[in-house]
Amino acid sequence: MKPKQRPKRPHFSSGPCAKRPGWSPAVLSHALVGRSHRSKAGRAKLREVVERSRRVLGVPDDHRVAIVPASDTGAMEMALWSMLGARAVEVLAWESFGSQWVDDVIAQLELHNARAWVADYGELPDLDAVDFDSDVVFTWNGTTSGVRIPDGDWIPEDRAGLTICDATSAVFAMELPWPKLDVVTWSWQKVLGGEAGHGMLSISPRAVERLEKFEPPRPLPKIFRLTKGGRLIEGIFSADTINTPSMLCVEDAIDALRWVESIGGRDEVRRRSEANLESIADWVDRSAWASFLASQPETRSCTSVCLQIADPWFRGLEPGEQVAIANRIAQKLDEEAIAFDVGSYRDAPPGLRIWAGATVERSDLEALFPWLDWAYAEVKAGR
Ligand SMILES: Cc1ncc(COP(=O)(O)O)c(C=O)c1O
Repeated sequence: MKPKQRPKRPHFSSGPCAKRPGWSPAVLSHALVGRSHRSKAGRAKLREVVERSRRVLGVPDDHRVAIVPASDTGAMEMALWSMLGARAVEVLAWESFGSQWVDDVIAQLELHNARAWVADYGELPDLDAVDFDSDVVFTWNGTTSGVRIPDGDWIPEDRAGLTICDATSAVFAMELPWPKLDVVTWSWQKVLGGEAGHGMLSISPRAVERLEKFEPPRPLPKIFRLTKGGRLIEGIFSADTINTPSMLCVEDAIDALRWVESIGGRDEVRRRSEANLESIADWVDRSAWASFLASQPETRSCTSVCLQIADPWFRGLEPGEQVAIANRIAQKLDEEAIAFDVGSYRDAPPGLRIWAGATVERSDLEALFPWLDWAYAEVKAGR
């Protein structure tokens, strides 16, 4: 029997994520379309995104924040290509996106003095083994395994290397130790449910020093260049973007940030996300077939919640069949318009991935759980 209640919004994708509750295209009616982003009004909009982001996130006053091209990937690669090579590098990975940074550091940049710390899906590498005399590259939340770093205690206050953190599915949902993070990157399309294509880059004074003192032994395309003549291009950090942003996306980002402020700021978005995780954990506790992919409760992500299928029947199937079954569950939920985009990431173990960031309502998750059981039972019965 199909459950009676349905989620009001079936949007559980891990990016682009659900828009904020109450969002409609009308929020874009004041967008500065058809105008230059370098006009006084355009710059004011860009500055508003930067200033509200700083305020909401609690970015330290001496860290600079910029809007950059090519989303989170652009922001990360800009930092890697501009800053790495001055010291040895430690790069950490425990799922697909971290593995991409390993590939950048080792295969693309061909940094010889680099060491990768790689853990399997569900685990974290040994954080205490990391050498902070080196530059350290890592994601805060592994979006495709649902494993997050629990806190910043493993990062020393005084360290010789830089910490370069891809925090795209963590900001606005998890507490970050900002003074210990020399580079932080994120995008608008994740926890705030904004639009894709634009990246955010925050850099500490030590990162600025690196940029000004170190000349990378490689050509840099224009969209990666943060310095000119050995000096930081300050304009990039005061709303003079490197190239042209979409003013529709900018307006949407302003709306999302205003929404966060209207409901109580970062504490409240964090609380919403943690409460969503708690409600999923309560359901998993009761479930006869689902379990967390994250092996340790303290590393369970409160945004990209990754579940595996623990049923012995499923565990006994061939790997190809497991993938097909997991895909069919996600497909059934999609066909019923109950949950969109909840299949696990293509490189991750078969299962489900449910976004639980602040723009998702707990009541929608609670309406989803009986449907998960229904879809699983249907697929297991071969229907
Ligand atoms: C941890 C992480 N890094 C990088 C990316 C890539 O982000 P974008 O497509 O916004 O560049 C994602 C997207 O899901 C992600 O979750």
